[in-house]
Amino acid sequence: MKDILDQLEQRRADARLGGGQARIDRQHQNGKLTARERLDVLLDPGSFEEYDMFVAHRAVDFGMEQQKYPGDGVVTGWGTINGRQVYVFSQDFTVLGGSLSETHAQKICKIMDMALQNGAPVIGLNDSGGARIQEGVASLAGYAEVFQRNIEASGVIPQISVIMGPCAGGAVYSPAMTDFIFMVRDSSYMFVTGPDVVKTVTNETVTSEELGGASTHTTKSSVADAAYENDVEALAEVRRLVDMLPLSNREKPPVRPSFDDADRGDYSLDTLIPDNANTPYDMKELITKIADEGDFFEMQAAYAKNILTGFIRLEGRTVGVVANQPMVLAGCLDIAASRKAARFVRFCDCFEIPLLTLVDVPGFLPGTSQEWNGVIKHGAKLLFAYGEATVPKVTVITRKAYGGAYDVMASKHIKADVNYAWPTAEIAVMGAKGAVEIIYRNELGDPDKIAARTADYEQAFANPFKAAEKGFIDEVILPHSTRRRLTRAFASLRNKKQALPWKKHDNIPL
Ligand code: HXC
Repeated sequence: MKDILDQLEQRRADARLGGGQARIDRQHQNGKLTARERLDVLLDPGSFEEYDMFVAHRAVDFGMEQQKYPGDGVVTGWGTINGRQVYVFSQDFTVLGGSLSETHAQKICKIMDMALQNGAPVIGLNDSGGARIQEGVASLAGYAEVFQRNIEASGVIPQISVIMGPCAGGAVYSPAMTDFIFMVRDSSYMFVTGPDVVKTVTNETVTSEELGGASTHTTKSSVADAAYENDVEALAEVRRLVDMLPLSNREKPPVRPSFDDADRGDYSLDTLIPDNANTPYDMKELITKIADEGDFFEMQAAYAKNILTGFIRLEGRTVGVVANQPMVLAGCLDIAASRKAARFVRFCDCFEIPLLTLVDVPGFLPGTSQEWNGVIKHGAKLLFAYGEATVPKVTVITRKAYGGAYDVMASKHIKADVNYAWPTAEIAVMGAKGAVEIIYRNELGDPDKIAARTADYEQAFANPFKAAEKGFIDEVILPHSTRRRLTRAFASLRNKKQALPWKKHDNIPL
């Protein structure tokens, strides 16, 4: 019996060694943790239950029968993050470059099926040279099996991808269909075709980092939601994110103990809005001042900075925040901002996370580039996402809410539940100057008359009261009381039920 136990221990030790010490050393030299070390950081100590440690590939071509490693290049199983269950796979670059074989894919599919059945998130740690070249189409089939599961799990369980090494070719499409992608700076990249192919086809010279590194995907393409300095930081942030999310669409987000008084007033907010309507201020200040313990988990912070998206907690409960940022492009909506916010709103709606919208928007960004690139359809995404979201929706207009952008930003008319405005709010078709230049065009030669007309228009519309008279604003609130108002509003909506007409699915303007 003792021998048998020893044999098991020996087999386990061999499996844990992956592609061998030399390759582990190379992984470390490249500033990367191994697949197993990453799971140690990600999961609660001692919580990891591994499956399929001894699975081996069945390929025989190109001498593959001589190259078998127990586990076949991916470590799979489940564990806990602050006591809550998550399923994980972690690709092992030391084994054949973490390449995906038929059996490697089967291991990933197995834990995805379990996650879907048992209602727990899937976290994928990606570090792979792509399809196992020696296996050909069997490997492509394996990818497609994973893709199909990504699609079926979408909106049912949260799916999080961390790119911690190469992720190239069709392999990128699995992370692309998950809810959030985190990358590690300098050691990860994602692209459909690499620099060599790019050079051949388009004659562009570009490095892997420029083409698909973390800064490219967080600032230019918006493929990634966040980038971190190293493996440990990225994994620690995944833990923080998971803490904010429900395990599945059948559950509410977790309630964490909060020691921040729900009634806490913040008098500095009474002077947040500058006297001059064209002077910017930092909307992030408002978010952190109303959030429990000032904690804001921002998503896509480096992309479309004219809109802020992320999670806070109020009374310990997760709330998704979408907020115009007057510091960038005056907070206007453009294609990038609309797409960024629409996807975020839809994530929150999938997973029963209430939405807080903070509005200071002068309208949509004008220009040929915007129109030719389809701002109509992209802006409609955000409108559509808000209108179909049935989670509790609370809106605060702090300053400008002009034109179509007023409607889009979770207005009463697209079924927001509670709409507040600060006394500084200006709810109008457009700013006073623009309005006067249109309706009093024939007086443009007389600056005094125009100034008087502008003052009249401001007097009439540069306030929240016209909208409040019509019930489009439920209450004009004092800025310092915003946190108290919001916690009470969300508390009142905890049992909200709203049904939409039956449909197979909608046809959001993609
Ligand atoms: C089999 C692979 C492999 C692969 C790497 N290896 N990629 N084995 N299939 N796809 C092996 C290498 O032979 C090597 O084995 C070990 O992994 C480490 O690779 P290195 O090249 O030494 O590492 P590095 O210099 O860091 O370069 C990493 C790399 C490079 C950039 C990923 O290995 C590479 O370009 N690989 C090929 C990538 C590729 O073309 N994949 C197919 C893409 S198409 P030893 O024994 O020396 O340690 C695709 C389609 C998916 O993925 C379609 C889905 C629909």
